[in-house]
Amino acid sequence: MNDKGIYTDFKEQMTYGEYLDLDKILSSQTRLSDHHDEMLFIVIHQVSELWMKLILHEVNSAIEAIGQDELPEAFKMLARVSRIQTQIIQAWDVLATLTPAEYTEFRDSLGRASGFQSYQNRQIEFALGYKQAHILKIYEKDPVLAEKLQESYEAPSIYDVAIQALKKAGFPINETLLTRDFSKTYEGDETVADAWLEVYRDTDTYWDLYQLAEKLVDIEDCHQQWRFRHMKTVERIIGHKTGTGGSAGVSYLQSVLDHRFFPELWNVRTKL
Ligand code: HEM
Repeated sequence: MNDKGIYTDFKEQMTYGEYLDLDKILSSQTRLSDHHDEMLFIVIHQVSELWMKLILHEVNSAIEAIGQDELPEAFKMLARVSRIQTQIIQAWDVLATLTPAEYTEFRDSLGRASGFQSYQNRQIEFALGYKQAHILKIYEKDPVLAEKLQESYEAPSIYDVAIQALKKAGFPINETLLTRDFSKTYEGDETVADAWLEVYRDTDTYWDLYQLAEKLVDIEDCHQQWRFRHMKTVERIIGHKTGTGGSAGVSYLQSVLDHRFFPELWNVRTKL
């Protein structure tokens, strides 16, 4: 300890850097070009992936908590998820300082690598209920990862467990939904729509389910804002060029905006 009361002798103690494995994290920004702005490009992706890691950690635990009727615990985790989402939405402002001229300088070195292949993004989509089988092929080259992805692909989403919670609360939910093939994207159901309508009409009686619904809407809303800002930032940087992942680029990103994770929670607003 020095004369200011601060610990400075760490020969026998764990340091901050050791605890956080900073050597590993901070030596993982390998630029493929010598272009100055490639550092921003790498860091923004890595930061987003770290936040995605925490989103998955929270959403998966929330799915478990809802399944065990521990709704207040789930609310806390889901509230954290939407705060994390605001961080990754804000991150687009930093990336928007990358100009088309700067990006063009190193874009070719990326080859076919694209955020399209982000497996954590896919795991988040799976956890929220958007299941696209063709995505899984990307991960075949790594059997351990492929198995992990297959598992999250087949698992019930947060909306599946929310529907189960409606059933447990006594709503006459279509039985086939409870044992459905969870690897398919949920398409909507009248009994679920009716149940949410009842919840929103009588919030005093169904306060927990009402809160759950609003937390899910928060998350979907933020996810859409993230997608929108991504699409606009991409347009600003590459215009309407095709993506490194092979898609049509901006028009592909625009088309993804049409997908809804929790359809009844949006439709119920019109019916109230
Ligand atoms: C200069 C910056 C960026 C450009 C030009 C860009 C461009 C694109 C394009 C064109 C696609 C469509 C797939 C393709 O053909 O490649 C895409 C997908 C994607 N990008 Fe980016 N992107 C950028 C930054 C980021 C960042 C910082 C992230 C954060 C992790 C990200 C995450 C994703 C994800 C998750 C997808 C898949 C979207 C989906 O399929 O719904 N991108 N990107």
